[in-house]
Amino acid sequence: GESLIVRLCLVLVCMFRAGEGSLQDEIFFVLLCLEDNCHLFHEEGVFNYSTMLLREDVDLLLLGAREAVYALDLRNISKKLSLVKWEVTEKQKRDCQNKGKDPKTECKNYIRILHQTEDKRIYVCGTNAFDPECDYMSYADGTLTLEKKREDGKGKCPFDPFQRYASIMVENDLYSATSINFLGSEPVLMRSSHTSVRTEFKSSWLHEPNFVSMAQMPESFMSEDGDDDKVYLFFSETAVECDCYNKLVVSRVARVCKGDLGGQRTLQKKWTSFLKARMDCPGLESQLPYLIQDAYRLCDPRRQWKDCLFYAVFTPQSETTDLSAVCAYRVSDISRVFAEGKYKTPVPVETSFVKWVMYSGHVPVPRPGSCIDNVARKEGITRTLDLPDRTLQFIKDRPLMDQAIQPIGGKPLLMRRGAPFTRIVVNQVQAADGAQYSVMFIGTGWLKAANHDGEMFIIEEVQLFEPPEPIKILKFSNVTGQLYAGSDSGAAQMPLATCGRSSSCMDCVLARDPYCGWDTVVRECVFLSDSTRGLIQSVKAGDASLCPNAGAVNPTNLSVLSQGNLKLRCPSPSNLAKTTWERDDDALTPSTRLQILEDGLLILNATNSEGGRYRCLSEERSKAAVYKTTLADYRVSVADPAGSNDRTTLLEARVDVALLLVSLLALLAWNFYNGHLPLPWNCMKKNIEQSPESQDAARSAPAEGKPLVAGADNGRGNHRAEESGGPNALLPPLQFIDDESEI
Ligand SMILES: *[C@@H]1O[C@H](CO)[C@@H](O)[C@H](O)[C@H]1NC(C)=O
Ligand SMILES: *[C@@H]1O[C@H](CO)[C@@H](O)[C@H](O)[C@H]1NC(C)=O
Ligand SMILES: *[C@@H]1O[C@H](CO)[C@@H](O)[C@H](O)[C@H]1NC(C)=O
Ligand SMILES: *[C@@H]1O[C@H](CO)[C@@H](O)[C@H](O)[C@H]1NC(C)=O
Ligand SMILES: *[C@@H]1O[C@H](CO)[C@@H](O)[C@H](O)[C@H]1NC(C)=O
Repeated sequence: GESLIVRLCLVLVCMFRAGEGSLQDEIFFVLLCLEDNCHLFHEEGVFNYSTMLLREDVDLLLLGAREAVYALDLRNISKKLSLVKWEVTEKQKRDCQNKGKDPKTECKNYIRILHQTEDKRIYVCGTNAFDPECDYMSYADGTLTLEKKREDGKGKCPFDPFQRYASIMVENDLYSATSINFLGSEPVLMRSSHTSVRTEFKSSWLHEPNFVSMAQMPESFMSEDGDDDKVYLFFSETAVECDCYNKLVVSRVARVCKGDLGGQRTLQKKWTSFLKARMDCPGLESQLPYLIQDAYRLCDPRRQWKDCLFYAVFTPQSETTDLSAVCAYRVSDISRVFAEGKYKTPVPVETSFVKWVMYSGHVPVPRPGSCIDNVARKEGITRTLDLPDRTLQFIKDRPLMDQAIQPIGGKPLLMRRGAPFTRIVVNQVQAADGAQYSVMFIGTGWLKAANHDGEMFIIEEVQLFEPPEPIKILKFSNVTGQLYAGSDSGAAQMPLATCGRSSSCMDCVLARDPYCGWDTVVRECVFLSDSTRGLIQSVKAGDASLCPNAGAVNPTNLSVLSQGNLKLRCPSPSNLAKTTWERDDDALTPSTRLQILEDGLLILNATNSEGGRYRCLSEERSKAAVYKTTLADYRVSVADPAGSNDRTTLLEARVDVALLLVSLLALLAWNFYNGHLPLPWNCMKKNIEQSPESQDAARSAPAEGKPLVAGADNGRGNHRAEESGGPNALLPPLQFIDDESEI
């Protein structure tokens, strides 16, 4: 048990240390999805579940894997409703193999695109043994069918299953960012429609990019300038502007206008509105910029698009650090840089070297890269085809903005060591206090953190897949209120919160989960939207004093014989709480006669001075205060063995000398556990380096090792006694000293 105790200690002790730093306000780690709220899906022999389409209109989750697309029940993804196999033919496999690709991995069909079309069909693309192909699927009468239309997938879907890509469907037009050739060396951002438009093949446009995600923004809506809707693309690429010896990769955001048709002569069938800017997520320790891995658009439906935010996860490009970060960006900030910022321009220096500097010369009108707006229309320019050559030539040579996009607050919202962040979903919730919270769900470590007024605290960490696997896709449905995640070996579905894990009001409130509140009538911690009653919740302060008094504890009268032993029981109510003892209203000082155990207090070889009042208190810490509740109240009297008045003594337990030794060991362990004794290592450092499993262990030691099948009894109630080798586990059955005074 000792190594486990130490590990728990690491997390518990360091929990507060982390709070003192600037990284997080407070950290709470709780356990995993329980069997009854977490659904899993995977099929024997099928891998790479990395594409998803939520069809809330028909309660379906379409899940794309290697050579297969599944139609699953959106409410319980363990229920497979239908399946389409889309395998490559033997000939395709041979051709692929002849081109030097691995027949067992690369020469298969990896489903990469699943989008809904306007006529409610599904557009699907796969790598198809390095020969990408697209098709339509429909779902009717419980059956998914592939229409076998066999469209060319070049430029829509990558050839290489290991290459990253991004795509979005906007009004039946597919916007895709991927490589358009077999070698994967010609990147494009293109729109496939009857007027297809793509990027110029030029390193100043896209330079060895890694595409990450796309989002659309309804910027034409109530626009005073008559602006157009935009499609944003997030990626990382080798920086052309870097004045450096080595290759430097940077994060980017680019955008195009939906109405772009390309130019008439210059930029024919190419974007006239492709603009890009560097995205910074500063404040990280590495010299090299961190690279964007995913971005999520969060728009409040009651507000305008300018208030939308992009949340993005970043990981380091060098292997010397394992710090991941989340930065948030205002769409209005991005939009301002594109609409008003300066451009960068290449200047030749010496013979073959080009330096990129801020352009300070004349900028043609209409402004290069802008959408067709009222100003352009006044000039008689109603389509990009009408744009003058000087505007087009300008943007063709200078798609990069001089200014970089800075995150809100100028620094990351969250930084964390350990498994790199792969995906992010952000959800807004109005808590019981009326305040809005943005809750981030981050793959891979499967972290949930709430953000309020720039203050960040991690609520929950869940390991979805065992062994832990990178999350390849993460989606949220606001209709079912569930999260859907995919990895190489399967898919999982889980709710935004598992309130039922908190068994007491105090636990419920101190967890500070904006989704959960304590219902005083049913005496349960419930999901906010599941209750019509006013719930007790305190997300900001973690103020558990709002909880009704759990009921005063009745004092218990106990008597112990002089020189006898007595154990006063007091199991900890939760693993967030710390128990302490008071004697006659002062903190109890342990001594040879008074020894604090994990689940109680031992009075050994009692003398008259051990008589008195002993109270066991539980202490839970939150931002606002330390909450103490009395768990047990004992009035102990010491009886003289010679006397006969107190013969009806109630002896809970007596311990012999061998047992005493064991107790002392347990006491030592307990002191380590509580951090009373100094620990022989740098605490902060360990905390940061802990693995996801050890964080889980903080609140869910019993579930360790088999997180997905953790039973309901793995609640936060009593893991200490089970796992930390507490006295219950260590002590042999109590042996009674043959005391002459016994009865
Ligand atoms: C597909 O899954 C297998 C098995 O986990 C994994 O080894 C492989 O790297 C995955 N392939 C891709 C393209 O993600
Ligand atoms: C989910 O579906 C699976 C497979 O059909 C079934 O065994 C399980 O009981 C379902 N769970 C719930 C909560 O409905
Ligand atoms: C879910 O989100 C969509 C758009 O994001 C919105 O139109 C819809 O009203 C939302 N539904 C619910 C139940 O909140
Ligand atoms: C405990 O002892 C006190 C006096 O020492 C007495 O007032 C009280 O009634 C006793 N309680 C019980 C439950 O016996
Ligand atoms: C108990 O305490 C008495 C003095 O109060 C001492 O003489 C005796 O040795 C102690 N017994 C043990 C087992 O420590």
